[in-house]
Amino acid sequence: MARTRLVAGNWKMHGSRETIRALLDAIVAVVDAAGAQCAICPPFPYLAQVAERLRGTAIAWGAQNVAEHAQGAYTGEVSAAMLAEFGCRYVIVGHSERRQLYGETDAQVAAKFAAARKAGLTPILCVGETLAERDAGRTTEVVARQLGAVAFTAGVVAYEPVWAIGTGRNATPEQAQEVHAFLRERLPRDTPILYGGSVKPQNAAAIFAMPDVDGGLIGGASLVAADFLAILRAAAGAKR
Ligand code: PGA
Repeated sequence: MARTRLVAGNWKMHGSRETIRALLDAIVAVVDAAGAQCAICPPFPYLAQVAERLRGTAIAWGAQNVAEHAQGAYTGEVSAAMLAEFGCRYVIVGHSERRQLYGETDAQVAAKFAAARKAGLTPILCVGETLAERDAGRTTEVVARQLGAVAFTAGVVAYEPVWAIGTGRNATPEQAQEVHAFLRERLPRDTPILYGGSVKPQNAAAIFAMPDVDGGLIGGASLVAADFLAILRAAAGAKR
């Protein structure tokens, strides 16, 4: 089975020119030996710095958000075509923080996904249930709704249980596998399905060993070069 193994770093709203320079230097120095595909998603102002530093390396870069509209009077927004023009490859769409803190609806997420695809970007579509939804036995219903809202032709999916994001409480490998298998049945063959939510060097190998886990979307641990590289190696070395 030749599904792409991908590890993407979601830096969220962290970093400065100096910390990003140091982080990239450490990652670029060894990443070619790490073996899995790798992408980094910094905050918008640092995209140019990251793109410049990654030119000629095997590491791709992406944005954390994109406008659902092509252009126009949308103050503060950034279009998919603008990102594509600068060599952007990935864009995170529908992250739970966007859904919860900024009220993004399934319809908006679908429009952002379509806009990204139209511009030639690879969307990383995030789906995942809250703790209340899991406790109510609604996990598959919720992720099916979030996925079903999108006209998914091609891209990457990230299963990110909301209760596991930034909490230090990751899903067990079995919990991740169960949802990944459910998503797999509803997606085009060969769609990479990443797990996200408190992935650390200590738990990455066990999660990536699951048959339907193709890599990870990494938040906190992607800000620490040694941790991110260890997670990349776990993805490259995982046997399934
Ligand atoms: P975390 O974040 O690894 O810090 O839990 C993951 C994400 O939000 O993409």
